[in-house]
Amino acid sequence: MIKADNLIKDYGTVRALQGISFEIKDGEFYGLLGPNGAGKTTTISILSTIIAPDQGSVQIAGYDLKKDPEQCKRSIGVVPQEIALYNKLSAYDNLLFWGSLYGVAPATLKTRIDEILTLFGLSDRKNDRVDTYSGGMKRRINIASALLHRPKVLLMDEPTVGIDPQSRNLIFEVLEKLHKEGMTIIYTTHYMEEAERFCDRIGIIDKGAIIAQGTLAELQNTGGIKESIAVTFNELKDDLKAKLNSTISGEFTFTDNILTYSSAHVKNDLSKLIIQCNEAGADISHIEIQKVNLETVFLALTGKQLRD
Ligand SMILES: Nc1ncnc2c1ncn2[C@@H]1O[C@H](COP(=O)(O)OP(=O)(O)OP(=O)(O)O)[C@@H](O)[C@H]1O
Ligand SMILES: [Mg+2]
Repeated sequence: MIKADNLIKDYGTVRALQGISFEIKDGEFYGLLGPNGAGKTTTISILSTIIAPDQGSVQIAGYDLKKDPEQCKRSIGVVPQEIALYNKLSAYDNLLFWGSLYGVAPATLKTRIDEILTLFGLSDRKNDRVDTYSGGMKRRINIASALLHRPKVLLMDEPTVGIDPQSRNLIFEVLEKLHKEGMTIIYTTHYMEEAERFCDRIGIIDKGAIIAQGTLAELQNTGGIKESIAVTFNELKDDLKAKLNSTISGEFTFTDNILTYSSAHVKNDLSKLIIQCNEAGADISHIEIQKVNLETVFLALTGKQLRD
């Protein structure tokens, strides 16, 4: 459905994209996960024909973006990072505006607006001016406006930043529904929880490059990262530490009074580790299993945190 091949984009001397490639299948929910400045918006802006790449090509729904931009545009709905609404107009009038801009016939448009207002839980506020809306409500209308022409592909750029939990949950429910109905979705975020929750496949983007790509399970196996068990002791004197060192078999390190044991089979090793600690006479105060998540994958690949 979407194929991006070796996209390069420079802003003056800043190389924002340095050869981005991905292929997204029909009906796939693809996440682009990366920190501030990674190149997420630049990628979305290229796919939505707002800016042109300096090099590389894009195909959407079988059309080449450079040769057939109009055909490509017909297939996509775009939810930009910055909310694009007319504050002085009502939600209804904003949707009328965006729907006609996307070329929806007037007779169809009114029915669709009513449907979409219900879907986003805003029917009762449809005649109120957008400047009386909360951030989350504006966000919902912003997303709704990208769906009126029933696009095959939805491009979303960080649609849940800074909104209330209620709006966030509603947006998640709508996205899950659209995904079930077969829409192809590209979703950029710097929240690993969102990428983990929704995406069939995730591209991890950093400094204008996709540094890893795959399903969550595939990414969790990237870079040889292991799960770990963190055992906190009430007290860890040197003699006890020495005893633990000789009793415990496996890969582990000490930091203050915490022992971090890493393994490819943490669940299997857990009871053995507790027994070994007891044998050494250690007083355990807390045990925590540290799973491999996208944050740890990102850390292993880049040496830095996903969030700053
Ligand atoms: N119009 C511009 N002029 C100059 N540099 C830009 C411009 N837009 C983006 N950049 C730079 O290009 C790089 C990629 O920016 P981009 O906005 O695509 O990142 P992002 O992943 O969307 O970040 P964020 O999470 O902050 O939205 C950054 O280094 C940014 O400073
Ligand atoms: Mg951005």
